[in-house]
Amino acid sequence: MPQTNLPDGASATTVIGAALWPADLVEAVRASTDAAAAAAREWVGRGDKVAADAAAVAAMRAILMNAPFSGTVVIGEGEKDEAPMLANGERLGTGRGTECDIAVDPLDGTSLAARALPGAVSVIALAPRGTMFDPAGVFYMEKLIAGAAGLGVLDLRRSATANLRAYAAATGVAETSLTVAVLDKPRHAALIRELRAAGATVSLTVEGDVSTAIAAATPGSAIDLVMGIGGTPEGIIAACAVRALGGVMLGRMAPQSDAERLSAGRDLSRLFEVADLVSSERVLFASSPVT
Ligand code: FBP
Repeated sequence: MPQTNLPDGASATTVIGAALWPADLVEAVRASTDAAAAAAREWVGRGDKVAADAAAVAAMRAILMNAPFSGTVVIGEGEKDEAPMLANGERLGTGRGTECDIAVDPLDGTSLAARALPGAVSVIALAPRGTMFDPAGVFYMEKLIAGAAGLGVLDLRRSATANLRAYAAATGVAETSLTVAVLDKPRHAALIRELRAAGATVSLTVEGDVSTAIAAATPGSAIDLVMGIGGTPEGIIAACAVRALGGVMLGRMAPQSDAERLSAGRDLSRLFEVADLVSSERVLFASSPVT
């Protein structure tokens, strides 16, 4: 029996945007995260994040290879950690049907899975070919994610406090009743202090900012906003989910090392909106919980 802290029946895969895509492709996409999550679940709590990730990658690839589409992996994830991954540029599918960009993270929250902590998910997004932003060599980005009420209200050039206040005003919820998810990393010490001083509840997760992004864009969830710096590949995947859910996502590249800054070689002050990260509204997104 795989180790999991999911309640009974909670392993259901969520698919968003299905109405815009052929039914057989939707089924294949659903099956791909289902299979990846099931494979990763065999490794939950066994202390081996690479094996968990590799199992998820293999299971997802096996399904997508025979899926009825012509897909190109744009966001394979795993590059910065040299983790198992679907390779960027890899072609998947039967070669017939819709031409798509693919963004995948067969296991987001590899350490969470290895340690049997909640928040690990398997995710995939499809969009028409050429519509996903390619972050090439920039592994980290700053993210500000919220529900639809944040449209035209949130602004990455302003402080966290100002954004919290603006979102509180837009939603009619007091700052003190807003929950902001932040990755629990030393780089976020000042942000966490600021948010707490402004009265917000700060929900800290050791890793896994795709699931918190999905939560922030989902009305009525326990997370109102996501703030801070996380992976860029995860940011593009989150953008696909946020776009499909109708939420708001703002981003800015945030290289964390000189090497990354050098290889980036692009305008680092550029502000991204969700439509810059995935330019089509026709997004198919699926996610399956692992833990
Ligand atoms: P992995 O599961 O692929 O290791 O990614 C986990 C994650 O927490 C992402 O959700 C997040 O975007 C990124 O890593 C943050 O990177 P880092 O841990 O290097 O700050």
